Amino acid sequence: MDDNIIEVRGLKTYYYTATKVIPAADDINFSMKRGEVLGIVGESGCGKTTVARSLVGLINRQNTRIEAGEILFEGIDLAKATPKQLEHIRGNKISMIFQDPFVSLSPVYTVGNQIAEVMRAHSTGKVDKKKERETIIELMRKVGIPSPELRIKDYAYQLSGGMQQRIMIAIALACRPDILIADEPTTALDVTVQAQVLELIRNLKDEFSMSVILISHNLGIVANMCDRILVMYGGVVVEEGSCYDIFKNPRHPYTRGLLMAIPSLKEDREELFSIPGTVPTFTAPVSTCRFADRCPHACDRCREKEPDFVDIGPGHRARCIFADKEVLNA
Ligand SMILES: Nc1ncnc2c1ncn2[C@@H]1O[C@H](COP(=O)(O)OP(=O)(O)O)[C@@H](O)[C@H]1O
Ligand code: SF4
Ligand SMILES: [Mg+2]
Repeated sequence: MDDNIIEVRGLKTYYYTATKVIPAADDINFSMKRGEVLGIVGESGCGKTTVARSLVGLINRQNTRIEAGEILFEGIDLAKATPKQLEHIRGNKISMIFQDPFVSLSPVYTVGNQIAEVMRAHSTGKVDKKKERETIIELMRKVGIPSPELRIKDYAYQLSGGMQQRIMIAIALACRPDILIADEPTTALDVTVQAQVLELIRNLKDEFSMSVILISHNLGIVANMCDRILVMYGGVVVEEGSCYDIFKNPRHPYTRGLLMAIPSLKEDREELFSIPGTVPTFTAPVSTCRFADRCPHACDRCREKEPDFVDIGPGHRARCIFADKEVLNA
């Protein structure tokens, strides 16, 4: 493992519906170093949340199965961990925040109580109420809640969306996790608040010495924050590389499409590019390039079998038959 905090190998998480098997995460491989920020990007339906939830065992075992693979974290394989082990990991080691804070927060407890609950689960020994209150207020201040000594008594509905997400972050940090998974943490927020919340996550990462997995459908969101990026499409990683690789030398047509769809990179803002078509839902096993139906470079070879990764440079690879060819620039 070296200095990798988590290592995912060959992860396959499939959903079983009445009529088909959906390979939502299909042979996912990545590792993350301590202190690193890893971005996972791709349009809605590409499998990002499935990967994230698989890491912490938040999958519904009735219709979801981890078919294969390993998730190595601190000497255990989370893919095979018991529900009890996973609960312990979630309460102490890996925290996750979601797109909609209001749904995740309890309507019946004050925000202070919800932070306290996590801290109590995490601490050993007797709780000193006064000290606990101080710690909660300090944590609320760290996540940028103004007048935390008053807000500690608030209920979720009394706070704005941005403030609710800050409380979610406080709850996630209350157990001092090693890894924070932020799944579309700003998607439900308006643009100015988005930037503030991202800035907050970035600052807290250093202060709490965490590694962060930042998930977004918007490549622009992860641009300033991530060390490495995985681009997912249709359940697979189609390109991975450093932030520089992805932005300066994208080698998969899908990555190129996502880049063109970022508003600020487009000169003519009136007419924002979007990749034609939508993400299809695949049925396992898949034996074609998953992007073929939307790809401007698709040819017969692309539908013969699923392309392998082509190495572009150190840590940079793309799953396209033309990844290292000039054709893409045509
Ligand atoms: N509980 C479920 N049952 C069946 N299919 C699901 C379920 N959750 C997600 N899916 C399907 O799995 C695919 C990936 O979904 P998801 O991981 O949520 O993608 P993303 O987070 O990138 O939007 C989609 O096709 C979605 O419809
Ligand atoms: S393998 Fe073919 S269809 Fe797939 S991304 Fe490359 S050119 Fe497009
Ligand atoms: Mg999602």
